[in-house]
Order: sequence, then structure tokens, then C-alpha cells
Amino acid sequence: MRVIVTGGAGFIGSALCRYLVGECGWQVLNIDKLTYAADQRSLASIEGAPGYRFMQADIADGDKISHILDDYQPDAVMHLAAESHVDRSIDGPGDFIQTNIVGTYRLLDAALHYWRNLPEDRQKTFRFHHVSTDEVYGSLGAEGLFTESTAYQPNSPYSASKASSDHLVRAWHHTYGLPVVVSNCSNNYGPYQFPEKFIPLMILNAMAGRKLPVYGDGQNIRDWLHVNDHVAALRLVLQHGTVGETYNVGGRNEARNIDIVHQIINHVRDLSPHRTLPPDDELIEFVADRPGHDRRYAIDATKLENRLGWQAQYSLETGLRDTVAWYLNHSGWWQPILDRKYQGQRLGVA
Ligand code: NAD
Ligand code: TYD
Repeated sequence: MRVIVTGGAGFIGSALCRYLVGECGWQVLNIDKLTYAADQRSLASIEGAPGYRFMQADIADGDKISHILDDYQPDAVMHLAAESHVDRSIDGPGDFIQTNIVGTYRLLDAALHYWRNLPEDRQKTFRFHHVSTDEVYGSLGAEGLFTESTAYQPNSPYSASKASSDHLVRAWHHTYGLPVVVSNCSNNYGPYQFPEKFIPLMILNAMAGRKLPVYGDGQNIRDWLHVNDHVAALRLVLQHGTVGETYNVGGRNEARNIDIVHQIINHVRDLSPHRTLPPDDELIEFVADRPGHDRRYAIDATKLENRLGWQAQYSLETGLRDTVAWYLNHSGWWQPILDRKYQGQRLGVA
């Protein structure tokens, strides 16, 4: 397989590139604008691999993307490039509209033009895989799960921009026949995640004995998916998913934020016994809630499990412990980010 991955210098995109090049032996061209969230050091393990190439480009630059498609002649586009952090979307929605909506539109248009000019046999096998989020479905109460037929009800500027992009992808399939597949996944965690996100921020703060800022009452629930399980699902959806259909990806790992925080502190204590951490209640600080904070996300992954044979390999317990261990052992990766890009300050208070 010869694929273009957009956003391959980000958290999930870099895991996908490492997996496709390093484990599956595919040829990958990574297209990334290199925003604050990108880090090429996350790709060091495949940088010299013969099947891997990188090109800096903005997905909203339609002409450039068209040239890249014509030159590279991919069998598929896996679209992950996005502005991805809810708190930043509260502070500045403009970039989210530009990249997630306008950028996806330009990419779709370039892909459609490319696809129409392919020979018939290659048109049949070409795929545009759009990677999206379960946040498009809105917020759940105490009961129930998101399925592929749950109505869209996005609440944040981020989720509204992703919902818009999902609708554009759907329309490009129904109107123009572009062969698309869509996946909507729950919250990812694992190595190389930018420390603005909940789990890495809590790990780094706990390691440093800094306060752990928990929004609201800490009872919000997320359904955690290890990034390695996610990228394995993406490959299955791309290769075996039915054109025009959506697949929900989730690890069946629901947890309250406050429980995740206690688990992280325990893992740090356990894996790094020379650190003397204050008691949990001195480390944890309940702070003002996020505006519009969704209460609960939970994915029903039955379709992916039954039709494509996917199973999550990581329990939250082992995945979280591995992730804490990774951050403990990789200060060389995160310290320059804390020095130059993001110092852990609160975002998205509106
Ligand atoms: P990330 O923020 O870590 O990385 C995004 C990457 O996209 C960065 O490398 C950035 O430079 C690149 N990018 C941004 N704007 C671009 C543009 N205009 N042109 C080209 N590249 C651009 O994000 P992530 O967490 O890896 O998420 C990847 C995808 O998965 C996103 O589409 C996101 O909406 C989706 N998703 C993420 C999660 C999660 O928990 N992280 C959950 C569900 C869905
Ligand atoms: P986040 O990683 O931003 O993902 P999302 O908002 O897309 O689910 O946040 C995960 C959960 O953690 C969410 O309920 C907000 C909460 N949270 C905190 O309590 N404190 C924090 O400092 C951050 C960044 C998030």
C-alpha cells in the first residue's frame, strides 16, 4: 500500500506512520503543516526508512495538495490533520474552522480531482479515510453508548468543526462518488501526546509535584483508547471498511477524570519510588469547569469488533501504567516542549 497520511507529525498521526511503515511495511508520505502540535522527533524511528517521506504542507493549500497527489499517486489518503484541542478551540475557534472545515474541503476537492483521473481499476480500490472523533455525538447521560447511528450534537467549537468535516466527507461520497470511509474514536492516550491534553499533563505535573488541575467536580467520564489500538483499527477500517460507512472506535475503558488522576499518581509513586509526592488531596486541585464541558463519552465498538475483527489489546490499567513509564523515561522528548511551546498553563476558560 502507498498512502498519504495528513497530520502525521501529531500524536495519532505519528503513531500511525510508525505502525504503517515500521510494522506493516507500507509506503507513506506524511503531509503536515507543522503547527505547535507537531513534532518530527516522534518519527525518528522511521525517518531513514525507504518507504517513508515527509512534506510540509497545509491541507488548505489546494493547489499544493493536488500536485502532491499527482506526484505521489497514492492508493489512499488517511486524513488526520486537524486542530485537536477543545480548550484551544474555546480560546480561538478561527484556526479550527480554517483547518478542520476549510482544510478538509480543500483536501476533499483535491482528492476528488485526483480520483477522477485514475484508471478505472485504481478508482475502485482508492479510499479517502476521514479520521474523526466521538465528540461529534455530543454528551451522554449516565446510561447509553454512542453508536454509528447516534445523531450529531456537537457542543464545542472543536467538535462542531469536526462534525462539519464529517458532513463534508459524507457529501463528497453521496454527491460525487468519492470512495470514503469514516472512523469516529474516543479519547486517545499513549506515548508522544502533547502535554496540553489531560493524561500527559497530569503525568508531568505529578512527576514534578505540581498541582493537578481537575475541571469542575472531576466526575466527567471519558472512554480511553490506547493510540496503538487506534492505529490498528485505522488500518482495518481503511482496508476492509465498507465504502460510505462509519466505524466507531473505542476501548471500552470508561473512567471518571478523578479516578484517572488517582491512578496516575499511584503509578508515578510506584514506578518512581525515589520521588516523595505529597498526599493525593494536596496534589489535586479542583478548578473552574470548562465552559460547555461534555459530561460523558462512551463508544459502542460492536460494529468494528464484529465486522472487522478488531479487539482492543490494552486495558486502561496496563495502558496507563505503560504511558506513565514512557513519560518517566522520555524527558528528552517532553522537556523541550515544556521549555519552548507550552508550560502547562490553563487554557479555554473563555
Ligand atoms: P494533534 O493535535 O496531536 O496533531 C495534529 C497534526 O495535524 C499536527 O501535526 C499538526 O501540525 C497537523 N496540522 C494541523 N493543521 C494542519 C494543516 N492545516 N495542514 C496540515 N497539517 C496540519 O492531533 P491528534 O491528537 O493526533 O489527532 C489526530 C486526529 O484524530 C484529528 O483529526 C483529531 O480530530 C482526531 N481525534 C483525536 C483524538 C484524541 O484523543 N487525540 C480523539 C478523536 C479523534
Ligand atoms: P482533554 O484531554 O482535553 O480531551 P477532551 O476534552 O477532548 O475529552 O480532556 C479530557 C478530560 O479531562 C475532559 O473531561 C477535561 C478534563 N481535563 C481536566 O480536568 N483538567 C485538565 O487540565 C485538562 C486538560 C482536561
